[in-house]
Amino acid sequence: MIRHEQIEKNSGLMLVLTLVIISIGGLIEIVPLFFINDTIEVVKKEITETSRDANGKRVRTKREVDAIRPYTPLEQLGRNIYIREGCYACHSQQIRPMQDEYLRYGYYSLAAESQFDHPFQWGSKRTGPDLARVGGKYSNRWQSEHLKNPRSVEPKSIMPGYPYLSKNDLYYKDVKSHMKALRITGVPYSSNDEEYKANVERFGANVADLLVIDNAIENLEKQAKDGNYDPGREGISEMAALVAYLQVLGTMYQFKDDDGIEYSKFR
Ligand code: HEC
Repeated sequence: MIRHEQIEKNSGLMLVLTLVIISIGGLIEIVPLFFINDTIEVVKKEITETSRDANGKRVRTKREVDAIRPYTPLEQLGRNIYIREGCYACHSQQIRPMQDEYLRYGYYSLAAESQFDHPFQWGSKRTGPDLARVGGKYSNRWQSEHLKNPRSVEPKSIMPGYPYLSKNDLYYKDVKSHMKALRITGVPYSSNDEEYKANVERFGANVADLLVIDNAIENLEKQAKDGNYDPGREGISEMAALVAYLQVLGTMYQFKDDDGIEYSKFR
């Protein structure tokens, strides 16, 4: 038996045993990281693609692609505003797998759904409701009116108003830099042909087009124009970006009744 006194008096032995203990702790923390990809669910959806065959005839083919995609440039900048304004201080974005949660908010959140979130916005406090599936619950007009003055649509609301978001023009000249930075963290925005093709394979061509860093500005302007996220406002406001982000939350994959949980009628 080695006595503790002997270890303390022998610095070589002390060092070796300290290293052994630290390595065990280290392994416990590091090993799960190698399996992290296995813990993210595979969420697939079917898309139909049209192409031309050898005779120039149009053919439609169906295939499965990843349902959860990275945010478009506009949604990503909206997300930045969500973070800047500290919405996470009152709103969570994580539906827990418990009955009261899915009756109120919908299917519980999957790890896959926040795989491109850097930093994630799970939050830890719910002064207001969870927002993980708020996309599509209200119209764009409701969202922008609510953000300007929550009392105008929800008379007893205690949420602060953010009227200036509609007055501020969105600054988006640096959107490419944001996407490049996110790329370093593993978000598959593409900056060359090879990456673009991999995205077509993974998400389908329509989505892959939105993830091209070089086209970010045009994509952002087009989405803002087509989406009319801040109704009645000319140009692109910060509000438009934030609403574009809110409207995509939880909508990338449509959970069906046979996914096990009936929740849609409660929304
Ligand atoms: C001080 C706490 C607080 C902050 C900060 C806050 N909210 Fe809220 N939010 C609430 C409360 C309370 C409600 C419920 C009442 C209502 O609908 O206004 C709410 C409701 C909402 C809803 C409607 C949710 C639903 O399912 O009906 C949305 C969307 C929303 N907030 C978005 C935001 C965004 C975006 C921000 C940041 C710009 C934000 N909130 C900041 C407290 C807050």
